[in-house]
Amino acid sequence: MVRIAVVAGSVRSGSFNVMLARAAIRHLEAHGATVTWVDLAHFDLPLYATAIEAERFPADALRLKQLFAGQQGILFTSPEYNGSVSPLLKNAIDWASRPTDGEGPVALTAYRGKAAAIMSASLSPFGGLRGLMQLRQILTTIQMLVIPDQLAVPNAHQAFDNEGRLRDPLQTSLLESSAARLVKVAAALSG
Ligand SMILES: Cc1cc2nc3c(=O)[nH]c(=O)nc-3n(C[C@H](O)[C@H](O)[C@H](O)COP(=O)(O)O)c2cc1C
Repeated sequence: MVRIAVVAGSVRSGSFNVMLARAAIRHLEAHGATVTWVDLAHFDLPLYATAIEAERFPADALRLKQLFAGQQGILFTSPEYNGSVSPLLKNAIDWASRPTDGEGPVALTAYRGKAAAIMSASLSPFGGLRGLMQLRQILTTIQMLVIPDQLAVPNAHQAFDNEGRLRDPLQTSLLESSAARLVKVAAALSG
């Protein structure tokens, strides 16, 4: 079974990116993945600063890093904030990128060589596309292999039905193909 973590860059009650993440989980599981849902509300992560890290590596940052390290792939959903990823998500990514336990400075044990998929949901007609471009760049920098498929859901307030499924068949098929490819690539990279 392929182990995939799913993390959303929002902890807002009623978050569209959490809805998208939950919809993605259904597709990942249908392709045989063992999914770990990462709710960032359950991680106490201070805003990253070297001074904080030098004093004490936060327990929840280590927990997040270890959780990611145990996966073969990670699916990220993020809101777009002023054309970029949410600071909540960037901060979490940054903490889990840091070396621990005597690792070299760019060990990137949580990420290096693993598969990633990226998605966003936004109220705007562009679906958070600009944020996705930045997220792709960030994940490539930390040595993840980001699959070419991606999904940007526009007009997010109208995009989901009462069961949290995407209404639009094209978006549903993009969600399905992204999930399928992530599982396939994650398995291939760790095989
Ligand atoms: C500080 C801030 C900046 C935002 N900037 C953008 C933006 O650049 N593009 C966009 O499409 N939506 C932007 N939004 C609106 C978000 O897409 C919207 O709040 C979305 O619902 C957030 O995702 P969530 O539902 O998962 O919490 C912004 C929202 C906030 C709070």
